[in-house]
Amino acid sequence: MLGFDIITIFPDYFRTAFDYGIVRRARAAGLIKIAAHDLRRWTQGRHKVVDDRPFGGGDGMVLKPEPIFAAVEELTNKQNEDEPSKLPARVVLLSPQGRVLTQSLAEDLAQEDRIILICGRYEGVDERVAEALATDELSIGDYVLSGGEPAAVVLIDAVARLVPGALGSETSAANDSFSNGLLDCPHYTRPPEFHGMRVPEVLLNGNHAEITRWRKKEALRKTKRNRPDLLERATLSEPERLWLNEINQEQ
Ligand SMILES: C[S@@+](CC[C@H](N)C(=O)[O-])C[C@H]1O[C@@H](n2cnc3c(N)ncnc32)[C@H](O)[C@@H]1O
Repeated sequence: MLGFDIITIFPDYFRTAFDYGIVRRARAAGLIKIAAHDLRRWTQGRHKVVDDRPFGGGDGMVLKPEPIFAAVEELTNKQNEDEPSKLPARVVLLSPQGRVLTQSLAEDLAQEDRIILICGRYEGVDERVAEALATDELSIGDYVLSGGEPAAVVLIDAVARLVPGALGSETSAANDSFSNGLLDCPHYTRPPEFHGMRVPEVLLNGNHAEITRWRKKEALRKTKRNRPDLLERATLSEPERLWLNEINQEQ
């Protein structure tokens, strides 16, 4: 069981976010558990203040460190009643300044028992959270969102589907894009002809060896076209190198 705890000023944002598809099934099967906690629970005083002006001046507000530290400490102690000082394996601060989430990092996170996610807002989160509380500062890509909530949904979705059993026996992540360093191959379904475009003949002939070969070669072709950076880093097998040579000669 992998438990996700989200710390946010907008817990309602997640009301239905995890009620669909694989994530819903994984929750129903008890493989994952997700709870969204209102950061205001850990504020002091009537006004439940979570933010303050930045030292040094400038625009916007910054999320204060005290409620975030208090939230993580309480959530952590609840999990480790026998060892109250032990932090869970992962406390993730969502931030555009973090390491970018990749499939291999998602695979790594899927091995954990518990992940606490801290969602920033406004100008961001007091830096002491990154320095002394978070085990990981993670970004979902090189662009700036208004808040960490959509990033938390993305991270949880990417990780939840990799928890053993989440995809069900009929599906596997092994051929998904990035799992082996390349993109997935193109997929087609009925009808065999649509707007004058024919599905590749090889997929219709039932020859499984040929289909497997075609898929591997087309995955290479698509990676070369859309993500040549992945191809440069990939470790290719001997047949893959030959197919890539063939693709290069076709152009
Ligand atoms: C408007 S952003 C703050 C941006 C910050 N001033 C900067 O330029 O680095 C507010 C919050 O959204 C979240 N956020 C924005 N972009 C993100 C990204 N690419 N990945 C993960 N979280 C992101 C973070 O939690 C961040 O604290």
